[in-house]
Amino acid sequence: MRKPYIAANWKMNKTIEETEEFINSFLPLVNDVSDVDISIAAPFTSLGAASRLLKSSNVILAAQNIFYEEKGAYTGEISPGMLKSAGCSSVIIGHSERRQYFSETDDIVNRKIKIARKSGLDVILCIGESLEEREADKTFEVLDMQLAGSLKDMPLDGMTIAYEPIWAIGTGKTATKEQANEAHTYIREWLMKYKEGADAVRIQYGGSVTPDNIESLMSQPEVDGALVGGASLKPDSFAKLVLSARIK
Ligand code: PGA
Repeated sequence: MRKPYIAANWKMNKTIEETEEFINSFLPLVNDVSDVDISIAAPFTSLGAASRLLKSSNVILAAQNIFYEEKGAYTGEISPGMLKSAGCSSVIIGHSERRQYFSETDDIVNRKIKIARKSGLDVILCIGESLEEREADKTFEVLDMQLAGSLKDMPLDGMTIAYEPIWAIGTGKTATKEQANEAHTYIREWLMKYKEGADAVRIQYGGSVTPDNIESLMSQPEVDGALVGGASLKPDSFAKLVLSARIK
């Protein structure tokens, strides 16, 4: 049995003050939860404040992106060392918004995963197909390519995979539990075929997860958690998601 893992992806939301307000309200709602892993991927500017408030809590601090070099002339980028010194122990890599708006390829994602793992940061790797790809029956082909490219020469320790069908992100259109489980099963089989330790890897579902649909998604054997955007922005809604994921 894999421990459920619920992760918040705040995207480009929350100032430092809003981050502090969220965490102060959220922590008391989940402070007795030890059977679910919980993380919050805050914007870079909020990491320092979040880290101070999350210290010695049961919530992991994550970043939403990383650069694939350790230091140097890369204006505007953030290195793994910077993330670690800001208090992060995890990072989201390859989110579809990064792929779509910032032209991140599987090769770039692979370089980012390599440096993150080398620095001891855990990684949530996001993969998933677009609507056109799903309608053209290319879902598995896309997952194959993304997994092979992103995980090239990388072992699986420290890795979580988030299956996020692009058509479900921020649209209110969730994959059915059967669609989610089918894709997760495919990912699990791919990992089993090509990597060691695949059984232990958590596979999260992401895309319009809410307190209303999480139980149905989590009822599926291959759905080990969720990566949540919109519904993670309010403390009570994110706490509900965490509490729904508890082992029954
Ligand atoms: P959403 O975003 O929950 O708002 O659909 C999920 C994500 O992009 O990680």
